[in-house]
Amino acid sequence: MLHDARGPFSSLVDVTTGLVDRSIYADQSIYELELERIFARAWNFMCHESQIPKAGDFFLSFIGEESVIATRDKKGELQVLLNSCRHRGNAVCRAESGNARSFLCTYHGWTYGLDGSLIGVPGYKDFYHEQLDKSQWGLVKAGKVASYKGFVFATMDPEAPDLEEYLGEVGRMGIDLIAERGDMEIVEGIQKNLIGCNWKLAVDNLFDWYHPQISHASAFMAGAVREPQNLTQQDMMQLQKAQIGGLSPMHQRVILGGYGHAIGGPRIEEEALDIRSKFYDRVDPIFDDRYREDPKVQDVLGGVGVTTAGHPNIFPNLWVALGAHQLSLRLPRGPHQTEIWWFTFTPKDATPDRKAAIVGMANSIFGAAGLLEQDDGENWDQSTRAMRGVVAQRYPLNFAMGTGATPVAVAGGVSYIDTTINEHAQLWTYRAWAEWMDADSWAALKQTHSTAPAADARP
Ligand code: FES
Ligand code: FE
Repeated sequence: MLHDARGPFSSLVDVTTGLVDRSIYADQSIYELELERIFARAWNFMCHESQIPKAGDFFLSFIGEESVIATRDKKGELQVLLNSCRHRGNAVCRAESGNARSFLCTYHGWTYGLDGSLIGVPGYKDFYHEQLDKSQWGLVKAGKVASYKGFVFATMDPEAPDLEEYLGEVGRMGIDLIAERGDMEIVEGIQKNLIGCNWKLAVDNLFDWYHPQISHASAFMAGAVREPQNLTQQDMMQLQKAQIGGLSPMHQRVILGGYGHAIGGPRIEEEALDIRSKFYDRVDPIFDDRYREDPKVQDVLGGVGVTTAGHPNIFPNLWVALGAHQLSLRLPRGPHQTEIWWFTFTPKDATPDRKAAIVGMANSIFGAAGLLEQDDGENWDQSTRAMRGVVAQRYPLNFAMGTGATPVAVAGGVSYIDTTINEHAQLWTYRAWAEWMDADSWAALKQTHSTAPAADARP
């Protein structure tokens, strides 16, 4: 099916039946509009403040396909600058991270300060005859830059709402679930690899608790995740309800927020909160989750957050992967390719054993050498190839699992559904995708975007 790239995109995502048109994973013109209407408009994750603590520290990140420099200027302010010289467009920064006093373009030598201002032009007197207004030719700056609990985001669109408003209850909870684990520091080295898939498939998979038993059967057989030892039948049942390191298809929760943010996956049964402590010494140290017992943390997370163990996605493409304290970006590289980035964190005060367990899991589960990501990547690659087919595109995909079955509950301003494995969060993400794609400005999106569903709704 061919589409006018200007939509309406709501016709490609049927939120009533849960059917999604396959062209959204394959069509070049749709992809290009995503770069404009989603990535150039959204708040994009840049880096953690611990990666750029001092003036001049920088980290190269991306907004869509565009390279940007996240840096700290001489005043200590966070800056996000488009990594493209204003003269002929050359990159002004080629290192992935480091410390610089300024950014010198290697083509003709224009030099930019840490705040992006143009501070040096070779031949300014002799060739330009002082006719170039340097104040007008600084690097393009992000529309807004902000940090939430040390996690730095930027949007290229000055009309975007402020970061905290954009995140809303659900986006903030998604980050709180990692930020409240303690003073977090980054593990040196960001893992990056390319997978032959559309970026949206990699996003919708993060909510998917339907696939592990099948996709990852061999990884589990190989011991990718260490099973708890010496447990009685009763222990096993308690552990399932307590959601420590297991997969529980029956105890699931999905949380739906504004602008497409969502959290999906296991929930901890409230009565199991108290029994978690007795297991921490018997399971992999990676699963040590006792920060949830801290009353201050409970205050921040609220009742729903404290019992949520699922996976948050900050729309569009930031997965807060709680298992090994990681963040993952699904960066678009054309309709058929995605660059996956993994940032790994450890709590500063964690024991050496725990830090080693976190890094070990980060290396062996996801990332280029990760057992699970290889399984997942293979599936997404095959899906993406098949989406291109003219015949295949006559048949939509099905995202209807469990939707409409259980009504929404609301507590502490958060809309959530406690149920079994389902595809609510995936469909919510595609619904938001269509709204972002149909809105031609932030003003329009603010008007038309879906807010968190009301109590008793059946989205
Ligand atoms: Fe940068 Fe010419 S392209 S100075
Ligand atoms: Fe997987």
